[in-house]
Amino acid sequence: MDQLKRQAAARALEEVRDGMQLGLGTGSTAKHFVELLGERVRAGLKIIGVPTSEATRDDAMRCGVPLTTLDEIDHLDITVDGADEIDPALNLIKGGGGALLREKIVAAASDRMIVIADDTKWVPTLGRFPLPVEVIPFGLGATRRAIEKAFAECGVSGQMAVRKTKDGHVFVTDGGHWIVDAQLGRIVDPPGLAKALSTIPGVVEHGLFIGLASSAVLAGGEGIRVIERREPKGD
Ligand code: A5P
Repeated sequence: MDQLKRQAAARALEEVRDGMQLGLGTGSTAKHFVELLGERVRAGLKIIGVPTSEATRDDAMRCGVPLTTLDEIDHLDITVDGADEIDPALNLIKGGGGALLREKIVAAASDRMIVIADDTKWVPTLGRFPLPVEVIPFGLGATRRAIEKAFAECGVSGQMAVRKTKDGHVFVTDGGHWIVDAQLGRIVDPPGLAKALSTIPGVVEHGLFIGLASSAVLAGGEGIRVIERREPKGD
């Protein structure tokens, strides 16, 4: 599996050119991309990156990838990031690693987002992977009730749980928020659910990435498949 992730990362690296400003994703697949990018930088490639998490910042620094922030540059050419699920419209569930907020800010600031994954992430319908919803701890009971209402209005339901670390503490995101994971099973209308969740005051962000991915690079036993999005970014 790790080999497949590295193959997908290597394919995405072929899109990178001298002078590009890159968004650097988070997770085990994105980590392969950062490592391979570091090799190219050490061989003379001139790029600059914006990391989507403290973990990726550490990896990039270790690999010698020069970094900047979205305050210092006005756009990104390409973001390369993993995903937890990818559907045929290139809608995504992300946030299994807890970095969804910064990942979405960085993807939205990019001309293109290339999703890299092994092909087990490709699904006909999103929702088997629990949907991460990043929330403010204050008033969580009210926020959870509003999330349940949004789910019902969008024809989905399922158990919700505040994410915990392996040692039983509440998982805290890089932004100091908590994550509620919702076991929805099958999300019939991802864009509708994304909109409904975005209107809830205690929700900081959710793991549905709609209209952000430009292409997906999927590595499987039979090779690499690249799926391009038909509609322009944002539709
Ligand atoms: C991080 O918050 C996530 O969005 C990751 O991009 C996603 O969980 C994929 O991670 P892996 O590449 O480790 O499967």
